[in-house]
Amino acid sequence: MEKQEVDSKLQERKMCGRLLMFPLPAQGHINPMLQLANILYSKGFNITIIHTSFNSPNKSNYPHFTFKNIGEARPTGYPTGSVAKGGAASKVILLNKVCFDPFHDCVKRLLSDSSADDRILCLITDALFYFTQHVADLLKLPRIVLRTSSLSAFHVFYLYPILLQQGYLSVQDSNSEAPVPEAEPLKVKDISQTYQIEGEDLGMMIAGMMTGTKAASAIVWNTFEELEQSVLPTIQQNFPIPSFTIGPFHKYFTASASSLLEQDKTAISWLDMQAPLSVLYVSFGSVALIDKSEFFEMAWALANSKQKFLWVVRPGVIRGSEWLESFPDGLQEAVSERGHIVKWAPQQEVLAHPATACFWSHCGWNSTLESICEGVPMICSPSFGDQPTNARYVEAVWKVGLVLENGIKREEIERAIRRVMIDQEGKEMRMRMSCLKKKVNLCLMEGGSSYKSLEGLVNFILSL
Ligand code: UDX
Repeated sequence: MEKQEVDSKLQERKMCGRLLMFPLPAQGHINPMLQLANILYSKGFNITIIHTSFNSPNKSNYPHFTFKNIGEARPTGYPTGSVAKGGAASKVILLNKVCFDPFHDCVKRLLSDSSADDRILCLITDALFYFTQHVADLLKLPRIVLRTSSLSAFHVFYLYPILLQQGYLSVQDSNSEAPVPEAEPLKVKDISQTYQIEGEDLGMMIAGMMTGTKAASAIVWNTFEELEQSVLPTIQQNFPIPSFTIGPFHKYFTASASSLLEQDKTAISWLDMQAPLSVLYVSFGSVALIDKSEFFEMAWALANSKQKFLWVVRPGVIRGSEWLESFPDGLQEAVSERGHIVKWAPQQEVLAHPATACFWSHCGWNSTLESICEGVPMICSPSFGDQPTNARYVEAVWKVGLVLENGIKREEIERAIRRVMIDQEGKEMRMRMSCLKKKVNLCLMEGGSSYKSLEGLVNFILSL
């Protein structure tokens, strides 16, 4: 939050008590937790952010919060880079083990040091930090869960035991287009992809998250009711605790302040020179990895597409490469004629820019929501976890984009770029995206669904 913004919010503040918030130390989780912290701060709550010393948030961007570092708490093998790379489930499981003692000690100390006029009301932790429920129980502190994915993707995780039992996780043809009646509109291939890496660890992580969420006092979601109406009643039935759909969070406060990597502003000055709706924005978020061969296919497809593009090539995103050293000979010139490559972009500004026509994304939930909020149709290359569900919803439910069904192959990519950026089909996707964008704006206005849900959350916390 900018200083002036903080000051103006301060004027509206009434003192309500203190919240202890604990994000998972990964970009896609830090952003929504810090945004939620700003939202609740603006409602009068004091905020303490508890964090690990690796991937720690940039404190200078949050002078209005208190920060408590629980130390390194880094599981063996956890990446040393500023952004977590690679398969996540086993690391999340380890984090849940190694953080227990330091987190417990930290919260215990904060409780004993707290005063009556700044009472600690509850813990708000990432749903993937499921161990914190045990700490909350030991210290008799209510715990609210923040689940950073969509409701639909959470539901697909909830179905894990059923899908396992029905044999969907051991199908011979992991590229099968067959429908999955238990998890409509997903296809068998989406289920395979969801669980493709770290099968057993992922199962354990999901079980931990489900148990920890069931035992919590409430769940906060970074989504809005109108987007996921069909699945909300099912979630409420399976998790009979209050569910607060108050998103999209970044519409209250942007994610730039919590960016772990420096955002390259040349992305915007380059976009300023492009014609309206002429640029394809390409980014696969902070965790997904691609092979060198996939990188080549992407580069060729972009060069052949004859469209302008802004491409985020995150250092380390290409397996076995530091950055662009594996760029194929001769391709760099073709690419640089029409494209601009950066290591990390101010994504929300990019998506809101009039030149941006389409987002080719890995479909992390933050990216998907950010695209919806700016009305930008998508090309989807999901990798794992919640991403295949998000991608299928983009294509089959909201009808605002296309999934690359066969991985990263240049001809298919070129076709998809044409379909979304040039063809009538793409114009229709953009119109549907505009409708969603209008719904976002309405849900945040006084009386709107997220507005009312946020009021409900504030009252709920005050009642604890
Ligand atoms: C991870 C998982 O991969 C994702 O599926 C899950 O929903 C959340 O955790 P990540 O892969 O980083 O997240 O993707 P995403 O959820 O899209 O979050 C990326 C965030 O980084 C977004 O807020 C985006 O605006 C920001 N970003 C991305 C930048 O600021 N600059 C960039 O260049 C790229």
